[in-house]
Amino acid sequence: MKRTLKIATIGGGSSYTPELIEGFINRYEELPIRELWLVDVEEGREKLEIVGALAKRMVEKAGIPMEIHLSMDREEALKDADFVTTQFRVGRLEARILDESIPLKYNVIGQETNGPGGLFKGLRTIPVILDICRDIERLCPDVWLVNFTNPAGMITEAVLRYSNITKVVGLCNGPIGIQKGIAKELDVDMSRIYVEFAGLNHMVFAKNVYLGGKNVTPTVMARMTKKEDGISLKNIADIGWDPLFLSTLGMVPIGYLRYYYQTATMLAEQQASVAKEGTRAEVVKRVETELFELYKDLDLAAKPQQLEQRGGAYYSEAACNLIHSIYNDKRDIQTVNTRNNGAVVGIDPDSAVEVNCVITSHGPIPLTTGALPIAVNGLVQSIKTFERLAAEAAVTGDYNTALLAMTVNPLVPSDKIAHQLLDELLEAHQQYLPQFNI
Ligand code: G6P
Repeated sequence: MKRTLKIATIGGGSSYTPELIEGFINRYEELPIRELWLVDVEEGREKLEIVGALAKRMVEKAGIPMEIHLSMDREEALKDADFVTTQFRVGRLEARILDESIPLKYNVIGQETNGPGGLFKGLRTIPVILDICRDIERLCPDVWLVNFTNPAGMITEAVLRYSNITKVVGLCNGPIGIQKGIAKELDVDMSRIYVEFAGLNHMVFAKNVYLGGKNVTPTVMARMTKKEDGISLKNIADIGWDPLFLSTLGMVPIGYLRYYYQTATMLAEQQASVAKEGTRAEVVKRVETELFELYKDLDLAAKPQQLEQRGGAYYSEAACNLIHSIYNDKRDIQTVNTRNNGAVVGIDPDSAVEVNCVITSHGPIPLTTGALPIAVNGLVQSIKTFERLAAEAAVTGDYNTALLAMTVNPLVPSDKIAHQLLDELLEAHQQYLPQFNI
């Protein structure tokens, strides 16, 4: 790979961009990014200009020769890029508010990446990512596409199945967050533990934890059940687990599993918090307003601490580590979304899974983890079925396939409610779903 790099970040106006810039600055010696193109759409221009100006101040303060380009022209940004990162939100937070509030009217979990909300975020996003893939084929066919856009698992599945791009990696901050939480529980540095992850994005389990050659999973489980889950993400209510369930399960579930194992309690919690402070999207909107006010301050040249109020903490660590390891052929182990290729026995080899991989310059090599324990295999398979149907519906715009996706989702209680939810959400998101001809 050439020694100076061009990176294009689609959705560059995101409030998370300072995270990314900080990560790139810290790794500049080994990851000499010469050009970073932050791209956005017209509606995101104001945010892009504010966050872009902050990015320029950060780079200037660091004294490195990284050029920051702000652009509305995706083609210009993609041309000859080495890596493309994607962090866009089709329909912005307004669409997320609908995804999170409409299901609640039917007493169904309203969530950004799970249940009906996750389906609709996928339906809006997949056509756009596939369009980006077509541009990549034309303008920078050797690029690595690093996607953080949610629902990251479904998006990776869609790119693998419906585009000609094979160099794609889906990323999430979840596994790194869990690993940090476990290291804290064990009171050791994170580098000393090895955590074996297996599952799907937002449906991943830490199957085994090793420390100094010993399997310390039972110790981890015992500590975790003693108190509230210390590894929950900021965006998911930390309501604790039933200790006996967790110790019998014998694996650390990502916080999103609460929606499946504690559905009634999580629903009640959502309804109460929506009444008090609005949906998570509305909370995030307020945090964003505060963040962008801070970003406007010409004296600010660092990532402000307030960004930690968002659920995506450590996301730049995941992204920068990945790009760094691909570029330098580091062959270290990271947890990413990639083509299964037999790593998780029982899941289609062509499907996307979230597993530990060796990260090489020719991409992630998934490490075999065997079959999933029977207690969780069924749920994981259901979600994979849902993701595949959702991706198919997003590509074809076929109403009946979307209805199947909605109905098979474990958070949707019945066929009739699925039907009603589908109709209401299709109408609400009409402008972002041209493929459905509504
Ligand atoms: C978690 C997930 C991310 C998601 C984020 C939402 O960290 O792993 O995939 O984007 O939460 O956080 P927010 O602050 O937008 O609710």
